[in-house]
Amino acid sequence: SFDNASPDEKLTNVCELLQKNISYYDWVGFYFANEAEKTLHLKAFAGEPTDHTVIPFGKGICGQVAVSNNNFVVPDVQAQDNYIACSITVKSEIVIPLFKDGKNIGQIDIDSNTADPFTEEDERFLEWVNEQVAKVL
Ligand code: SME
Repeated sequence: SFDNASPDEKLTNVCELLQKNISYYDWVGFYFANEAEKTLHLKAFAGEPTDHTVIPFGKGICGQVAVSNNNFVVPDVQAQDNYIACSITVKSEIVIPLFKDGKNIGQIDIDSNTADPFTEEDERFLEWVNEQVAKVL
């Protein structure tokens, strides 16, 4: 159940809920920052396993969000030069920073096999998801 779940299990539940219910959310994961190492670490995900469980700050879409503190919506991943490909089926991506006490501590990362599916509604929704997650961390 949700109540008995560990923090990591709760994060996995959130990933699975989003991935199963939103047709164009094909891979959903949470990365968290290691400030000393300046790396992001994959904590929970739903979808195909990825080789990219550790990402240096600045590298790829995720690494750029670790530095910028801003949402990053990518309608076409092939148009990005600083991009880390996890699967050849992925066409687009959205990364939303997760703030705890005003600090960027991680992010939700969503890959889509659909071209250009993400709107401002996704941004507002995922900001809200991250706010809820921050409360239980
Ligand atoms: N595409 C991401 C890497 C993480 S995978 O999408 C799971 C990036 O460019 O940072």
